[in-house]
Amino acid sequence: MKSFFITGTDTGVGKTEIALILMAALQARGLRVAGMKPVAAGCVVTAEGLRNDDAVRLQQHSSMPLAYEMVNPFAFAPAIAPHLAAAQAGVAIDLKHITYCYAALAAQADAVVVEGVGGLLVPLSEQLDLVDLVRALDLPVVLVVGMRLGCLNHALLTGETIRHRGLRFAGWVANSLEPEMDCLADNVFALARRLPAPFLGQLPYYGKQAPGDASHLDIDAMIERLS
Ligand SMILES: Nc1ncnc2c1ncn2[C@@H]1O[C@H](COP(=O)(O)OP(=O)(O)OP(=O)(O)O)[C@@H](O)[C@H]1O
Ligand SMILES: [Mg+2]
Repeated sequence: MKSFFITGTDTGVGKTEIALILMAALQARGLRVAGMKPVAAGCVVTAEGLRNDDAVRLQQHSSMPLAYEMVNPFAFAPAIAPHLAAAQAGVAIDLKHITYCYAALAAQADAVVVEGVGGLLVPLSEQLDLVDLVRALDLPVVLVVGMRLGCLNHALLTGETIRHRGLRFAGWVANSLEPEMDCLADNVFALARRLPAPFLGQLPYYGKQAPGDASHLDIDAMIERLS
């Protein structure tokens, strides 16, 4: 399996964009890929039930038809912290159920690309956080760093957490969230020197254009780390 978990330095840093680019790159290498967003807070009400935009996109870009409830087993309407959304809904986020859904997707795929929610220390309940979820799924982590002022601290804190909590760190991607950033290359270099995982590449700011493809990313280095 070539599965991995995509986390980010924050919410809104490009996890979904990078997930979709990586899914397409794996598909271009002949792999059957399933996308998963196990926990989503921020959903619209539809006749079929709650739907989250990220989860729908991951579902639509999967190589095979997948039941929404398998892609996104825990969906909450309000766009608030997941443990608060779960408490409001009277639901306990159950890692066993997420593991069950993941196994069902993995049985049909060569790779499952799992997107987190927010960053790595986001609470899922009074006891659990995202790291516990990654551990339950036993997946290597790919970190998306949203390149903006403050990202060095967020990225290095995430790196510390990955090490301290015993996760596997498959690599990191620099994602340009703004057309210009002062000292962008120096910031990327500062992280490349300090983060204990391969730099997989930099996605430029694409503005209103179509999202970039994987030509800027070292997919083969990542796949090697997933073996
Ligand atoms: N390289 C880029 N250039 C231009 N816009 C980008 C880039 N990367 C991401 N964006 C835009 O930034 C926004 C946030 O990206 P995205 O939804 O992938 O973040 P996320 O980390 O998945 O957020 P969430 O925490 O909500 O899941 C989107 O509108 C996306 O189109
Ligand atoms: Mg997302």
